[in-house]
Amino acid sequence: MRVVSGMRPTGRLHLGHYFGVIKNWLELQNNNECFFFAADWHALSTKYEDKLSLKALSLDLIKTWIACGIDMNQSTLFIQSHIKEHAELYLILNMITPVNWLERNPSYKDLLTQNEYKDKNMAGFLTYPVLQTADIILYDAQIVPIGEDQKPHLELAREIVRRFHHLFGTELFVEPKDILTPTSKLPGIDGRKMSKSYNNSIYLDDTSEDIWQKIRNAKTDTNRIKKTDPGNPEVCVVWEYHKIFSSQQTQEEIYNACTKGTIGCVACKKQCAQNIDTFIAPIREKKEELKDELIVEMLHSSTQKAQQVAKAKLAKVNEVIL
Ligand code: TRP
Ligand code: SF4
Repeated sequence: MRVVSGMRPTGRLHLGHYFGVIKNWLELQNNNECFFFAADWHALSTKYEDKLSLKALSLDLIKTWIACGIDMNQSTLFIQSHIKEHAELYLILNMITPVNWLERNPSYKDLLTQNEYKDKNMAGFLTYPVLQTADIILYDAQIVPIGEDQKPHLELAREIVRRFHHLFGTELFVEPKDILTPTSKLPGIDGRKMSKSYNNSIYLDDTSEDIWQKIRNAKTDTNRIKKTDPGNPEVCVVWEYHKIFSSQQTQEEIYNACTKGTIGCVACKKQCAQNIDTFIAPIREKKEELKDELIVEMLHSSTQKAQQVAKAKLAKVNEVIL
């Protein structure tokens, strides 16, 4: 199957991204033809005034994917703005997309109620899903892995495709299906959803010391005062991490020791931080090795491949509409 997905380059990736998105991509790339890209134009739709260095952020994003195991021999990786056909198709789709479809989009309405976005109601923000539609249908994607919050965008993409087909009397595009990434069960160190804005994230390039400092401050069973107090792992964030990063045997030991009050939280956290570090270290080190110039070079042939597909599609589109 043809798979297309993107991420906005807005900053460092954390464990939530890994277990929410990247893990899914890693599985998909084995049996599908995947196109993954840094959606830098999409980042611009809300961050235009933040003076993000989008070039650097896009490279860093792709570097992190590769460090995690996304393989350029299997998957086609690129930066959205390098392929101008995204913009051309976006323009064309804007001509046939009713404004009220965009205004009633639940994601859009939802974001407008948030302080962070309400003053950023630019035309490009409203038409964000039209650009996303272009990203997808430009490559005839059959499958689009996305988070729950993106579902309305995919619905809209299908509606735009159907409208195009109806208007021009041709079945030029593929109607994309979404597959939902199971929401990551991994909480932030304060127990809330892991998110940059909550300042509770463990990043995929955190140092061993960063990881330890964060785990040291992670929320535990607050009823446990003394080391000998029996604890309840079910209300402890550290236990959630043990469940993902520690061996079955360690998990059993920790669970028993915690509930019996024979292990202190500090010792438990030390072990937890160490196991998280064992997971992150190879990603961190691989990322360190990958220099920007190398990534730029690696992106070259991948971008060309995406470019070819996009160009061919646009030629057909223009044949139909012009
Ligand atoms: N809107 C997506 C997000 O914020 C990113 C994105 C842009 C995307 N274009 C896409 C995802 C195309 C899937 C397909 O997560
Ligand atoms: Fe949490 Fe470990 Fe302390 Fe138990 S011992 S409350 S699992 S940190």
